[in-house]
Amino acid sequence: MPLHRNYGYHPSLETEDLMKTIYFTAASLDGYIADPNDSLEWLFKNGPTDISFIDTFVNTVGALAMGTSTYKWMQQHAEEWPYKVPCFVFTHQNLKPFPGADIRFVQGDVASHHKEMQKLANGKNIWVVGGGDLAGQFYDQGLLNEMHIQTVAVFLNEGKKLFARHTDTAFKIKNIRQHGDTCVEVIYSIATT
Ligand SMILES: NC(=O)c1ccc[n+]([C@@H]2O[C@H](COP(=O)([O-])OP(=O)(O)OC[C@H]3O[C@@H](n4cnc5c(N)ncnc54)[C@H](OP(=O)(O)O)[C@@H]3O)[C@@H](O)[C@H]2O)c1
Repeated sequence: MPLHRNYGYHPSLETEDLMKTIYFTAASLDGYIADPNDSLEWLFKNGPTDISFIDTFVNTVGALAMGTSTYKWMQQHAEEWPYKVPCFVFTHQNLKPFPGADIRFVQGDVASHHKEMQKLANGKNIWVVGGGDLAGQFYDQGLLNEMHIQTVAVFLNEGKKLFARHTDTAFKIKNIRQHGDTCVEVIYSIATT
């Protein structure tokens, strides 16, 4: 392991460890990723103003996975689809694609789709965008390698959970970095011992 990892975040981290499946998301202090109405207003109001770290992460990504609610949020808020890599939307609903975007509507066992995602990601990372139940499905199958959680210093008290079903997960802190004065990002890897 390179020495700098023991001493904090290093900008080259994102490009060193490709081909991982990573749950990368922002959460409140009490562990919610959206309010009960799927709003992210709390994040835009209280989150960091410099969000260039998201672009840096997106550059390491070769495929995305998201659930129905997260995709619907994109439909409601994005004027155009922002990603150039394939996106697997896990859904039972008949959702409209964004014109020209590589979006694949799938359902069922995440493991079988994960194989296809790995092929398409072509050596880059897979980003599990959310939500917490879908991330848990990847975790259950032993497919989740890391979580990158940007915790914003605000309480929501209710909403959509960061990790929806689990009570005894095992992660270890790999790195920590600060974004402005309201957000800390912790990179967790799955504990193997
Ligand atoms: N804070 C952040 O940075 C951040 C990041 C991402 C998302 N968000 C927000 O957080 C909220 C997440 O919502 P959510 O927790 O409800 O999660 P979600 O994963 O977006 O949606 C969950 C739904 O996805 C479908 N689904 C999940 N797994 C499936 C599978 N294996 N096969 C088929 N369908 C499957 C099911 O819906 P159906 O059966 O109805 O199809 C399920 O109810 C959204 O509002 C989103 O915008 C926030």
